[in-house]
Amino acid sequence: MENVVLVGPMGAGKSTIARGLAAVLKRSFVDADAEIERRTGVDIPTIFEFEGEEGFRQRETEMLRELLERENIVLATGGGVVMRPENRELLKQHCVLYLRVPVAEQFRRTRKSRRRPLLNAAGDPRQRLEELFRIRDPLYQEVATIVLQGRNQRVRDAVRAACEAL
Ligand code: S3P
Repeated sequence: MENVVLVGPMGAGKSTIARGLAAVLKRSFVDADAEIERRTGVDIPTIFEFEGEEGFRQRETEMLRELLERENIVLATGGGVVMRPENRELLKQHCVLYLRVPVAEQFRRTRKSRRRPLLNAAGDPRQRLEELFRIRDPLYQEVATIVLQGRNQRVRDAVRAACEAL
């Protein structure tokens, strides 16, 4: 059976909802970023620091390819996974849930995070989120099987909405 993959911007709640969904569907939950961190033994900001964004994207692509070979998983991805065309082609072979959360909500949920190098760099993080959303929203839409419009949803409601949408 095809895998269920959650995509969407930073702060959309991909990992939380994927975890809940996996429990309901009785599938394994996998978080691609956490898996990269586990394998490399360092966190994402450190990978960006030493290998740059390109180095991280390469690891992300390899991880995506490997994880999607598994069966019956619910996979949470990083917000930039849709940037590479090869990743998008791969994602399209699975059931992809796009968590489409407004920028204000993304900002609220990522404001205190120190684990997101793209937002921790110089510049206004809210503007950065807006910029990224403009570029990426069409790409998320391109790979999405289902678009879930989310705003301040409780996790339980979001998981229920995701289950109903599947
Ligand atoms: C990124 C999102 C992050 C992580 C990395 C890059 C992005 O994941 O993969 O910092 O390009 O949007 P989350 O979406 O889980 O924050």
